[in-house]
Amino acid sequence: MKIILRFGGIALLVAAIVILAVLPFATSFVEQWSRRDVELRSRLVFNSARDQVASLLQKNDAASLTALFDRITSDERVLAIGYCDANGLSYPTKNMPQSFSCEQAARSNAEASATISEDNRNILVSAFPLKVSSGRTGHLVILHDLSYAEQRGWEARNYLFLALTGVAFGAAALASVIAMLVMRRWLASIRLAIENARTGTAGAPADDELIPIGQEIRDVLRELESSRRTIDAAHTDWSPETLRAALSNELSGSEVIVVSNREPYIHNKTESGDITLQIPASGLVAALEPVTRACGGTWIAHGSGSADRETVDPYDRVAVPPDHPLYTLRRVWLSEEEQDGYYYGAANEGLWPLCHIAFVRPTFRESDWRMYRAVNEKFADAVVAEAKREDPIVLVQDYHFALLPRMIRDRLPRATIVTFWHIPWPNAETFGICPWREEIIDGLLGSSILGFHTQAHCNHFLDAVDAYVESRIDREKDSVTFGGQETLIRPYPISIEWPPTALEGQKPVPECRLAVRRRLGLPDDIRIGVGIERFDYTKGIVDRMQAIDFLLTDHPEWKGRFTFIQVAAPTRSKLASYRQLQDEAEALAKEINQKHGSDTYEPIKLLIRHHQPDQVFELFRAADLCIVSSLHDGMNLVAKEFVAARDDEEGVLILSAFAGASRELSEALIVNPYNGHAMGQAIDRALRMSPNEQRERLRLMRDQVRERNVYRWAGQMLLAASRLRKRQRIRRLIKAGRRAAANA
Ligand code: F6P
Repeated sequence: MKIILRFGGIALLVAAIVILAVLPFATSFVEQWSRRDVELRSRLVFNSARDQVASLLQKNDAASLTALFDRITSDERVLAIGYCDANGLSYPTKNMPQSFSCEQAARSNAEASATISEDNRNILVSAFPLKVSSGRTGHLVILHDLSYAEQRGWEARNYLFLALTGVAFGAAALASVIAMLVMRRWLASIRLAIENARTGTAGAPADDELIPIGQEIRDVLRELESSRRTIDAAHTDWSPETLRAALSNELSGSEVIVVSNREPYIHNKTESGDITLQIPASGLVAALEPVTRACGGTWIAHGSGSADRETVDPYDRVAVPPDHPLYTLRRVWLSEEEQDGYYYGAANEGLWPLCHIAFVRPTFRESDWRMYRAVNEKFADAVVAEAKREDPIVLVQDYHFALLPRMIRDRLPRATIVTFWHIPWPNAETFGICPWREEIIDGLLGSSILGFHTQAHCNHFLDAVDAYVESRIDREKDSVTFGGQETLIRPYPISIEWPPTALEGQKPVPECRLAVRRRLGLPDDIRIGVGIERFDYTKGIVDRMQAIDFLLTDHPEWKGRFTFIQVAAPTRSKLASYRQLQDEAEALAKEINQKHGSDTYEPIKLLIRHHQPDQVFELFRAADLCIVSSLHDGMNLVAKEFVAARDDEEGVLILSAFAGASRELSEALIVNPYNGHAMGQAIDRALRMSPNEQRERLRLMRDQVRERNVYRWAGQMLLAASRLRKRQRIRRLIKAGRRAAANA
C-alpha cells in the first residue's frame, strides 16, 4: 500500500510542478491573444466608421460626429472615441479618461496602439491616421477597456488549472493502479517462489521479465528453508559433523577467519635446541580449536613461541594441527614494546581487572592504549591480507581486540563480523571509569553480532551503550543501531568439545588414580581434590587454600586422608599483581602444609607448571573432587572439562556462584569463594557424598555439557551469522526488485 501511495504521490508531485511551470506562460499567452483581438476590433470599428467620420469632419458637423461616436461606444467593449488633430482632442465621448492626451497616442503617421493605465485599469489606445479631403489631417482614437482581456486571461488560467489538476489526479490514480497491478504480480511471484521453496517443488516459474532477480530470490528462499531444516535436525546433537554440515548447508563457499591473541599451537625451543609443541592453557583455545578444525579456514593470532618463526612458511603461515592439518594458523609478530603496551598494559592491567570483580585496581595508561590501538590495526591488516573475498565471516575473540571489529568493518564493509567477549562485562557504572569507554563501545559496535556468555553481561553492555554513546537500542530485539549499522547483542554460553579429544587414550579411572598417586608420592588410599588453571587472581586460588585450612581445622579427621593438588600454569608473570599472587599462594600452601601436615603428609601440593590437556584430564579422573572457586569468571571451562572427564560418573564439582558455568551446572556444590568456612564445609560434604548422589549429579551435568557443547556454541553463532547474511541479501534483492518494478 505504501509503495502505491508513493507512486500516486510522485505522479501528483510531477503534475504540480508541470502546472506551476505551465500556468504563467498560458496566462500571458491568453492575455496577448486577447489584446490582439481588441486591436482587431479597433481596426474593424475604424474601417467601418472611417468614411462616415471623414465626411462629417469635412462638413464640420459636430452634432452628427458626437452622435456617431456615442453610438459606437454603446458597444460596452469600446470605452471611448475621439478625434485628435493639431487642435488637440475633439468630439470625445463621455467616458474619455481625464488623463488622455493626444500627444500620448497620435504621434506617428501610421496606425499605432499603446496601453495606458487609469484608475487601476489598463486601457488600449488605438490611433488611426485619417485624412479629410479638405486637407485636415488627424487621428481617430479608439479606446478599449483591457480589463476584459485580463479577465479572459484569469479565466483561462483558472480553467487550465482545473483541467491540469484533473489530469494530474487522473494520472496519479492511473499510476497507482499500474503500480498496484505490478506489485500484485511481483508479490504473487515472490509468494510462488516461497511456496516452491517450502514444498521443494519446481512450480511455475516467477515472471522473470517483470522481476529479473526472481531466480535469485528463489535461491535465497530455498537456502533459508534448508537452513531451517538444518537447525531442526541439528539442534539436539551438535558435533563436528553437524557443525560441518550446518556450515556447508548455510555458509557454503564462505570464508571463515578467526582472530585471537593467543595462538592454538605454540612452537617452543628447548634448551637442547629441540622444537616442542605446546597447547596453551586457555579456555578460548580449548573452545575454538575444535571448532576451527571443523570449519577450516584461517586463524590469525600472535606468534608467541620461541620457535614460532622457524616453523612458518614465507607468508607467516603454518598448517595445523601439525600431525593432521585442517586449517591455517597465520602468525602475527609483536615486538616486546607492542606486547608490553597492548597485552600486558591495556589488555591485562586495564581491561582484565576492569571487567572482573576481583578487587584489583585497573591501571589505564595512555601509552598502553596507543599501542593497543596500533596492534589492533596490525591485526586488521592481517585480516584484510588473509581475506580472499570481500565478505568473509570474521570471528573476533576477546578483550584484546575491542577496536578490531570497527577497523575491519571500515575496510571490509560486507564482512560478517562476529565478536565474542570471553570475560564478564561489568555494570555500566564500573565500566564508566574506563577512559577509553566510548572508543571501546564504538569499536565493538563494528560487529554484526556481539556475543557474551550470559544475558546479564549482554544487559550490562546495553546499559553501557545507553549511558555513554548516542545510539538506538532495541531492547526487544537486543540490538544496537549505531552510525546506521545494527549490531545484535546475544548470549552464547561457551563450552568444550564433546567428547573431549583429551579423553581419548585415557586409562580407566582406577589406573589414573594409581598413576597420579605414584607420580606425586601419595599413599594409595588418599582422597584427592584438584584445582587446575592459570595462576590468575580471578580464579580464587588463595581463597580455596584457605577453605582447605578451614576443612582441616573443622574436620581434622581428613588430615592424612585428603590432599589437594593445585595445578597453576604460570601466566602474565611480568605483571606485579600476578607475581604477588604467586608469592602469596606459595607462602600460604607452605603455611597450611606446616600447620596441618607432617613429614609424610602434605595437604596441599602446589604444582606451578604448564600441563598438557591429557595430563590435565588424567588429574581430573584421579580426583574425588574438583574445586573451581573463581572470584569472577565469564564462564570457566575447567568446570565443564572436569564433568566431561568423568565418564565413570563419579567425582564432585565444587563451583563458585560467580563463574558463568554455575548458571548451567547447577548440580555442582555451588559456593561463595569469599566464604572460606562454608567452602571448607562443601569440601567435607563432597568427600562424604554417596556414589549414588555423585552419579545423579554428574549425569545431569554431563547431559548439559554434552548437549550444550562448543559445536553448539559455534554453530549458533555461525547460523545467526548466516541468517543475518541471508536477511541482508534478501533486503538487497527486494530493494533491487522494487527498483526493477518501478522501472517496469
Ligand atoms: O578468559 C579470557 C581468556 O582469553 C581465556 O579465554 C583464556 O583462558 C585466558 O584469557 C587467556 O589468557 P592469556 O592468553 O593471557 O594467557
